[in-house]
Amino acid sequence: MNSARQPIGVFDSGIGGLTVVRQLRRLLPREDLVYLGDTARVPYGSKSPETVIRYACEDTRFLMRRGVKAVVVACNTASAWALETLTQRFDVPVFGVILPGARAALKATRQGRIGILGTHATIRSMAYHKAILARDDTLHLYARACPLLVPLVEEGWVDHAVTRAVLRDYLRPLLRRRIDTLVLGCTHYPLLKDAIARVAGRGVRLVDSAEACGAFVRERLAHLRLLETRRRRAGVIHAFVTDEVERFEMVAARYLGEPPGPVQRVPLD
Ligand code: DGL
Repeated sequence: MNSARQPIGVFDSGIGGLTVVRQLRRLLPREDLVYLGDTARVPYGSKSPETVIRYACEDTRFLMRRGVKAVVVACNTASAWALETLTQRFDVPVFGVILPGARAALKATRQGRIGILGTHATIRSMAYHKAILARDDTLHLYARACPLLVPLVEEGWVDHAVTRAVLRDYLRPLLRRRIDTLVLGCTHYPLLKDAIARVAGRGVRLVDSAEACGAFVRERLAHLRLLETRRRRAGVIHAFVTDEVERFEMVAARYLGEPPGPVQRVPLD
């Protein structure tokens, strides 16, 4: 039986999932969090569905061993391909980022013209399409894989001429379709929000899947009576990575908005 006292587990292919942790911290400041960044095997966005599902199961198994009460799949790629399998295989509630992002897009759109950005694997999965069209099949959706954005963000080039040029190129076909809403369907894209907003223009509402996920997890945990309500201290983050900790520690604060605390390296087998 899961109890509210247990931590929430969060995993991602690497560091980007800290944008989701940031939102969880903002909305659920008393929750303890266990974060796993699979830095040894990042990126997931260029891998096959079978590999992504296998990695996601291994990541979840690790979090289960840490005694988590629920698992948040912060990675859009893993949410897109593995959520169903994880829900079937593991005995805790599992939340992804796709459904919250889709719901937020449905709420945001005015003219029913929605753009979706993500990794190759996320776009290939059509997961956002399925989640949105299942709720309203009159909407027009336009998706674009943006494989260059993750490395640009990891390089810290969030306000750089090269990134702006890449964004203009990626967004052009979507803007031509007169989208009014744009889903940022990848862990790294919240860091590009300002740059994307400038290229997309005022008429396009941005949907941050990390932000939407935070609100969704709070709502679901409350419904399941798994929200921590009695703890007086602030929640803590236990961060684990599968490759060396130094680089992760160096850049984590950029995604998380605070220092990550001690980070441990773990093997997944
Ligand atoms: N975390 C991935 C996602 O949100 C981006 C990085 C990767 O390709 O692994 O899709």
